[in-house]
Amino acid sequence: MKVGIVGAGMVGSSAGFALALSGTATEIVLVDVNEKLAVAQAQDIAHATPFHSATKVSAGDYDALRGAGIVILAAGVNQKPGETRLALLERNAAVFRQVVASVLAAAPDAILLVAANPVDVMTDIAARISGLPPERVIGSGTILDTARFRSLIGRHLGISPQSVHAYVLGEHGDSEVLAWSNARAGSVSVDDFAAQIGRPIDETVRARIDDDVRNAAYRIIEGKGSTYYGIGGGLSRIVKAIVLDQHAILSVSIRTDRVEGVEHVTLSLPRVVGRAGVITTLHPELTPAERVALQRSAALLLDTASAVQV
Ligand code: 2OP
Repeated sequence: MKVGIVGAGMVGSSAGFALALSGTATEIVLVDVNEKLAVAQAQDIAHATPFHSATKVSAGDYDALRGAGIVILAAGVNQKPGETRLALLERNAAVFRQVVASVLAAAPDAILLVAANPVDVMTDIAARISGLPPERVIGSGTILDTARFRSLIGRHLGISPQSVHAYVLGEHGDSEVLAWSNARAGSVSVDDFAAQIGRPIDETVRARIDDDVRNAAYRIIEGKGSTYYGIGGGLSRIVKAIVLDQHAILSVSIRTDRVEGVEHVTLSLPRVVGRAGVITTLHPELTPAERVALQRSAALLLDTASAVQV
């Protein structure tokens, strides 16, 4: 499958790099208003590719997206140090009005994979501008927060993050909900496993992990200006699930009919992802406190998305 990436900055190019090394796509095309940047990034990625795969990597204009099955939307500006993702909104919404129309003119059958922040609201905007069904307009959402959550739990318990089943729900941002109540190590609750190995997850551990997940991006931005490898890896994972029709359960963001009483809101829940995009959504059983937090996150996102006209 051919995969397009609009936006050849650090997020788009990191996604292209991760994807090229994975060998999942037959072809990757990078598009950017700065053509020189797109060409340079494509060449640099192409030079790494022969060590790992036969994926063809090039740069082009929107026309070069013809035939793409997935287009990653990574165009837009990044958070400045201390800036919230929601503050980026107006700037990135303006970019999307042009980008989404141009992408669909060239690749009307593509699944749109949104990476620009604030990603849930940008996904909602992309869905409204495109008029595509929600399952074909997917935001990377909390895929990265879920990965951060799993690796911190895994590190505490001394097990692989891939053996931790835990999800971050709601907004990819400050109001996100770490669903501790159904986090599992293999088939056992993380609390039971932690007690068994003598490394209990007490309030202090829980608070530290919560803080590390929720504030990871702020800390990385303080240190190096922006985050990109993590999300690049996450985007590559979503593309793989789609291309290989894996029906993998991933926490991604799409417009959802009803979440904790909030209607038509775009946020992350665990969802089955395959060739058609999002195939179905899981609604985990949560504690009353988690439900309240998810309701709050959903209401905040709906308010923010509703304020933007497309
Ligand atoms: C991240 O969480 C900034 O959304 C970006 O790494």
